[in-house]
Amino acid sequence: MTQQVLYCNDVDATLNNIIGGGNYNAVMVLVDSNTCKLVLPQLPCLSNAHIIEIAPGDENKNLDSLVHVWQLMHNAGATRKSLLVNVGGGSITDLGGLAAATFKRGIAFINLPTTVLGAVDAAVGGKTGINFNGLKNEIGVFAPASTVIVSTCFLNTLPHRELKSGFAEMIKHAMLSSQKQLFKLLDFDLSNIDYEKLLEMLKSSVKIKENIVAQDPTEQGLRKALNLGHTVGHAIESLAMEHGKPVPHGYAVAWGLVAEAVISHLTLGFPSDDLYGLARFMRENYGAPSITCYHYDRLITLMQHDKKSRDGEINCTLLNKCGDFTIDNTIAPDTMKNALDILRDLLGV
Ligand code: GLY
Repeated sequence: MTQQVLYCNDVDATLNNIIGGGNYNAVMVLVDSNTCKLVLPQLPCLSNAHIIEIAPGDENKNLDSLVHVWQLMHNAGATRKSLLVNVGGGSITDLGGLAAATFKRGIAFINLPTTVLGAVDAAVGGKTGINFNGLKNEIGVFAPASTVIVSTCFLNTLPHRELKSGFAEMIKHAMLSSQKQLFKLLDFDLSNIDYEKLLEMLKSSVKIKENIVAQDPTEQGLRKALNLGHTVGHAIESLAMEHGKPVPHGYAVAWGLVAEAVISHLTLGFPSDDLYGLARFMRENYGAPSITCYHYDRLITLMQHDKKSRDGEINCTLLNKCGDFTIDNTIAPDTMKNALDILRDLLGV
């Protein structure tokens, strides 16, 4: 699986070079109505491209949108020598990647993520997909973009909480890498963004993911490490949704990372300094989830039904210390309840 990742802030020139050197017979660009309005005008090199627009949001990452993209690629006369440029967040790069990977058995595509979450997670690593039958990413293939262009120049088109949401995934990568990397991120001032520094951090973050994906591109084992924080995070996210008070994915991941660091501390001796540093940063930047002990049973049921769960048991990635992880750990419900108590104490619920 080869995928070139470029880091730059002159996106139009970079894209122009790639398109100019590719000898494509048609160039198409997939956008949602937000990136169509806010990002496309900043990319004059795409002014002659066929525009394919879909409605924004994960709920539109579905079969109807996929058919729409296929249809417009067909109408544009796309062949195997054509190129699709995906401009948007994770929903766009997931959907566009799948559309390109399946059209005429596969055409080249470029991912231009416009969110932090997209840049450090969805756009890199070759996962593509759509939601189906109420299940997230139920249909998809592993297919890397030929190039991913990572930049910070479109991040100010988004609400600040979107940026924070993606930063939580960067913290996850740092925890999987080293204590030094974690402390570097915990030192970053999210209330006054230094975009140059952020681009450097995005670079390190993507490299951590690339390194894991290179060893296990199709998630047979090691890649599951990237689920750190997500067992508890997904359960909190689903509970919030059930209560009609959705929370951004990255906020739920931020709380999930603290909860799973607590379990790592209780069961594997993950250092308390790292746990407290992490918890303080998350409390200050992401607040706390609305959970009480009355929600524990529901949260545990949700965790037992998580995609990663086998035989109805709670499955988590845990850390001996930053950079030293173990996958496929089974967590007893009582240990999880204990961790949720400590999580609420640490976050001041
Ligand atoms: N989002 C986790 C992965 O790419 O494996």
